[in-house]
Amino acid sequence: MNARLAVLASGSGTNLQALLDDPVVGPRVALVVSDRRDAGALDRAAASGVKAVHLDPAVHEGRESYDGALEDLLTAEVIDLVCLAGFLRILGPAIVGSFRGRILNVHPSLLPAFPGAHAPRDALAWGAKVTGVTVHVVDEEVDHGPIVLQEPVPIRDDDDADSLHARIKRVEHRVYPRAVRWWLEGRVRIEGRRVLVEGSG
Ligand code: GRF
Repeated sequence: MNARLAVLASGSGTNLQALLDDPVVGPRVALVVSDRRDAGALDRAAASGVKAVHLDPAVHEGRESYDGALEDLLTAEVIDLVCLAGFLRILGPAIVGSFRGRILNVHPSLLPAFPGAHAPRDALAWGAKVTGVTVHVVDEEVDHGPIVLQEPVPIRDDDDADSLHARIKRVEHRVYPRAVRWWLEGRVRIEGRRVLVEGSG
């Protein structure tokens, strides 16, 4: 399937880079969108010759207007799959509905533990011994949709939020491209809350 991917990112874009560097996924990345003009992700896209768009929340009044512009862009670029990679905006129900089962997110914890924007810090504060990485399908609730893949990451006594997040990201960079490959290969089937991946066990 010659699917076209969009990656949405607000930050440095190391997960975007992992997707770009994957021999199967990379050539399918057709568009990178960021809500931040200074996002490293936009530079990484440009360096790879991928269309990079800063979609500025300041020129849109409210989420619906922003999501509408985003959906128009995704439609114009004939995007099949949307990969969130550190995108700090919540997608509203309209765009989630339009791309039902076709939006993936990578989150730095073993969901449903530690949802939200500070997962590594929250895992440390809780005193957890293990956290991890979750790749999931996006639904209307934040960090909530059906889980495609998870991998644990140990927490060390001397970790701080930065060292832990760095260790988690190394795992993200390995597993996010794998999950996206599964989707591209048509092996992902969503049944309610369960995601079945053909041939993965
Ligand atoms: C990652 O840890 C991801 O799980 C979270 O945001 C971070 C993005 O990092 N959603 P980067 O911009 O890909 O380096």
